[in-house]
Amino acid sequence: QMLKEGSDLNYMERQLVQKLPVNQVKVVPGDADQSKEVKQLLGKEAATLLIDSFKEESVVTVTGGSTMAAVADHMQPVDQTRPLFVPARGGLGDLHEYQANSICVKMADNANGQYRLLYVPDSIGEELHAKMQEEPSILEVLDLMNQADFVIHGIGDALTMAKRRKTSESTFEKIVENNAVGESFGYYFDKNGKTVHRVNSIGLSLDQLKGKSQFITVAGGYSKRDAISAYLKWGESDVLVIDEAIARHLLQ
Ligand code: F6P
Repeated sequence: QMLKEGSDLNYMERQLVQKLPVNQVKVVPGDADQSKEVKQLLGKEAATLLIDSFKEESVVTVTGGSTMAAVADHMQPVDQTRPLFVPARGGLGDLHEYQANSICVKMADNANGQYRLLYVPDSIGEELHAKMQEEPSILEVLDLMNQADFVIHGIGDALTMAKRRKTSESTFEKIVENNAVGESFGYYFDKNGKTVHRVNSIGLSLDQLKGKSQFITVAGGYSKRDAISAYLKWGESDVLVIDEAIARHLLQ
């Protein structure tokens, strides 16, 4: 049975901060796999945390997905700030409404801020990709995203994401054979935090941002338990916004 009491959730948050390599944890009640409301709660908490940290002209780099869409739903204008939203990556093969570009526009509209987008087609060869990275208009956006004050992102279960993106058979096999459990920023990783595949796309340099930007990780739903555990070994997270199903798993 799921806990509902706020004080129990607070207790879990305090335990998790001690146990995990993060500075802050926010837990919302329930399991996002079971109800859409829980995903909205995740979005609301994450948006509130972000809004409360905004400074004048903050730059926010965002990823795509339904969880980030929920964050965008709850974004609000903040007096005296004109936040600028940029996507973390160009196309990753996602559905339009789940693309980082679309989420950026929605966040900027709701926050009364601005956005810059990355127009990079999904499946072009590596050579063209390299050429596009030299394009001044693209370089400008890359510069912005690599100066981000905040990086707000989702995490997905590896196989769910590979299927959702209609990944080619050979890549799918590679992901399965190398036991990928999680995906974030276009990287697939295994339970030990080792990268097993990277989607060919233009985007932020994670290494450059580590330790500089504030990373806000937002993910929930019991089906993402292994993905989220693995992300904490693979990636960076300062603030973790999760649901109760994940919190309980991480405390085991
Ligand atoms: O495709 C963008 C992305 O942020 C992925 O990196 C992540 O795995 C996924 O979306 C999460 O999607 P959702 O919030 O819908 O589970």
